Amino acid sequence: MGSETAILEYNGKRYELPVVTGSENEKAIDITALRQQSGLITYDPAFGNTGACASAITFIDGEKGILRYRGYPIEQLAERAEFIEVAYLLIFGELPSPEELTGFRDRLNHSSLIHEDMHHFFTGVPSTAHPMAILSTMVASLSGFYPVPDELDFDAEYEILANLISQVRTLAAFSYKMKIGEPMVYPSYKFRYVANFLNMMFSSPVHKYEIDDEVVRALEVFLILHADHEQNCSTSSVRIAGSSLANIYAIASAGISALWGRRHGGANQQVIEMLTDIHQNGDTAQGYVDRAKDKKTRLMGFGHRVYKNYDPRAKVMRDLCHKLLPRLEMAKDPLFAVAMQLEEIAMQDAYFIERNLYPNVDFYSGLVLRAIGIPTDMFTVLFTIGRMPGWLAHWREMIHDEGFRIARPRQLYVGETERSFFQRGNAPHYRHVKMPAREVKRL
Ligand code: ACO
Repeated sequence: MGSETAILEYNGKRYELPVVTGSENEKAIDITALRQQSGLITYDPAFGNTGACASAITFIDGEKGILRYRGYPIEQLAERAEFIEVAYLLIFGELPSPEELTGFRDRLNHSSLIHEDMHHFFTGVPSTAHPMAILSTMVASLSGFYPVPDELDFDAEYEILANLISQVRTLAAFSYKMKIGEPMVYPSYKFRYVANFLNMMFSSPVHKYEIDDEVVRALEVFLILHADHEQNCSTSSVRIAGSSLANIYAIASAGISALWGRRHGGANQQVIEMLTDIHQNGDTAQGYVDRAKDKKTRLMGFGHRVYKNYDPRAKVMRDLCHKLLPRLEMAKDPLFAVAMQLEEIAMQDAYFIERNLYPNVDFYSGLVLRAIGIPTDMFTVLFTIGRMPGWLAHWREMIHDEGFRIARPRQLYVGETERSFFQRGNAPHYRHVKMPAREVKRL
């Protein structure tokens, strides 16, 4: 934190606001005393210019296309690390030693079974339910089985982390099995984290799933790339819900609900639906791009609030597609060809160039998941498994920050000024009253 200041002049008065500096030299005007000093609040819908916290977990430079977890470049982690190592790194701040990694692995195995009574919860769920709906319900229900003490010591925290990271995977696989009407396959100490998940998803009493190391590696990479992305919509939801000191299983469920949306984690499903639409319904890549430019639709998997350059995760995913698809004899997947065509057209189009719209991680991730046999409506569930350590790292960072307060944004009220209930007179019935325009007067 430095000694620079920014000056705000308003109504003939000057306010000196401290400028704070992060470890990568990014600057922020500290307005924590602004309202108290000036009576003003800031107006920043969707928080595009607002730093809601200081965090030491993930660094993004959207202009340069840089992403680092705890200082480590995402490309190096995707090449070398295991997903649970990355989870440990995000949550505890350092990569685990071999002993710590073994201890963490054992603990995740130990926590992998869900309570037997929870199996009943699955029986009443309609088969048409989206797996994200089932997952958010089930994760919130864990609160009934694992009471959380008001004061958390390290052991209590470790139990929460292990339960959520391990059981979100078991619940995800169970929700899939329920949907396709097959018996649930229990987790096993025999497998590591990712292989365990694949076995629960694809083994059945009549068919033993053969673990393929390249498929395991591809899923490790997918999960690592999705493990954290600083203050995105779902992580902010987790921080906001967490700031009320709600139950951590309910907080994680809030993150899942936010992630489900198609402008966030739901986009990878939408990408495959878009590619299928183009491939099967006689549409063309050019036609789709033209409709996106006319604002009739959006090119799914393109654009990002933070990246104004190629999303570094999308690069890793695209390379993975090129490696994995031929290996799984999916190189001729027509959707892969459509995706590359779409990218080529969009990247040369002035509309996308002017707005800095590049492929994001979701553009290619669906193709990888599809190649390893994950059904489309499970894509966001896989994203959830990946993002769980990030949510937990942020929750833990927040509750250990002594100065943290309940999150409570302000608003600019643009509704009616005071009027009397007793003077309605001949006012039109409320149903005929036009909604006031939500306009902000520019002073
Ligand atoms: N297709 C066509 N036009 C787009 C797209 C797109 N995918 N994304 C943004 N634009 C346009 C907007 O229409 C707007 O144009 P305008 O200036 O003429 O009005 C301009 O680009 C800026 O767009 P915003 O909506 O202001 O950008 P914002 O930062 O709010 O949105 C978002 C980011 C939600 C990701 C957006 O780009 C989008 O909807 N993309 C498609 C969905 C998607 O891929 N989501 C995944 C995000 S990554 C993740 O969650 C892991």
